[in-house]
Amino acid sequence: MSETALEARHLFKVFGRHPNQAVRRLKSGETRSEVLDAGTAAVIDASFTVNRGEIFVIMGLSGSGKSTIIRMLNGLLTPTDGEVLIQGRNVTTASAKELRDIRRSHVSMVFQHFALLPHRTVLDNAAYALEIQGVAKDERLARAREILSKVGLADWADHLPDELSGGMRQRVGLARALTAGTDILLMDEAFSALDPLIRREMQEQLIELQQELGRTIIFITHDLNEAMYLGDRIAVMRDGRIVQNGTPEEILTDPANDYVAQFVQDVDRTRVLTAAAVMEPPHQTTPISAGVRGALRTLRSQQTSAVFAVENRRLVGVVTDRAVIRAVKAGQTELRSIVDASVLTVGPDDLLTDIVERAVETPIPLAVIDAERRLIGVIPRVTMLAALGNVPPTTREMPIVQTPIDMVAEFTPLVDAMAGLTPEPSDPSEGSRA
Ligand SMILES: Nc1ncnc2c1ncn2[C@@H]1O[C@H](COP(=O)(O)OP(=O)(O)O)[C@@H](O)[C@H]1O
Ligand SMILES: [Mg+2]
Repeated sequence: MSETALEARHLFKVFGRHPNQAVRRLKSGETRSEVLDAGTAAVIDASFTVNRGEIFVIMGLSGSGKSTIIRMLNGLLTPTDGEVLIQGRNVTTASAKELRDIRRSHVSMVFQHFALLPHRTVLDNAAYALEIQGVAKDERLARAREILSKVGLADWADHLPDELSGGMRQRVGLARALTAGTDILLMDEAFSALDPLIRREMQEQLIELQQELGRTIIFITHDLNEAMYLGDRIAVMRDGRIVQNGTPEEILTDPANDYVAQFVQDVDRTRVLTAAAVMEPPHQTTPISAGVRGALRTLRSQQTSAVFAVENRRLVGVVTDRAVIRAVKAGQTELRSIVDASVLTVGPDDLLTDIVERAVETPIPLAVIDAERRLIGVIPRVTMLAALGNVPPTTREMPIVQTPIDMVAEFTPLVDAMAGLTPEPSDPSEGSRA
């Protein structure tokens, strides 16, 4: 179930002398540079919806129009054309009073440069939005304290902002926005000024807080890795337009155009893609009930050296050609006793970064199983390597499972005979050709 928190409909923003004329010309097909004489088209026909409780990232290079969009979302800027709806209320046509009301109850903003009040303590800064809202002192300080402890600043409540590091100051900014209690948080390059380690920490903390507090976050960044890490969905902007809107996986695996493709080229895919995103349907399976003969048939028809044994779709283990051949030789028909249960399994939500080692170290595809141990997919090594795409493989070469030539010689007649026990219905046209 996804409820809409915010919707942007065909937003345009042109700065300059003739904004409306520029929009008309853009709508009739002129490009951004063709309408330059009328103004700078900062945002061109941007439409998107943000679901309640998601982190929606707007990503693009500097100057692509991100800040202009986010300022239209909370009414700091009026669109030249198009409209913004927040929980069904039209921000664009709202009166000044309605707008104040929407801001107070629905949207708060975290800026890149902290914007803390220098002469107030961390606690008072965190409580500031509530003060504006007219919340009584005891209550606002209590709520601010609670949020400060969530962002790890409980011990700093009585300090002044300039006694804090950059990362800590940004936490205060975040705390202030969270304390406001609005359901939508707008964050414009909120972490871009932080050094990389602190930035990573803040990203992790934001995701934790988001899961705990369930706010809707619209996060702006020019950093693709940050976008990929934080975003449930990402809108990629270029020259004022949204050129793609999708999940990190979609953007990585199916870039809308060459621009996006080039952009995502350097992303570490293993940190974005999950097992479920790359797995393939399991073809090489045999039910336990099919017995040794059934397994043999599957091995032959799939031309493979190992198959997964399943029972009511649940994974029991793996059966190798060697084990089957030995069982055939011994006259054994029951499959369960020759299944190797020590097969490597992964979950659908496991990130590739956590499973890549296992995938390349086993000659058998990784089995993807759900919570009930149902076999929902497989990841052959080749699939894993293809998914890694431009990430150079750092793993050593693996020998494939080989059937020694003498084993083939020894068993071929036997195997043929076995297969002949249940002859396939013959194709008459083949028969006449033979
Ligand atoms: N107030 C303004 N007046 C004129 N041009 C502006 C104004 N604000 C932004 N722009 C222009 O609009 C474009 C988009 O800017 P901005 O939204 O700030 O991009 P971003 O946040 O992606 O870096 C840029 O070309 C910028 O120069
Ligand atoms: Mg900006």
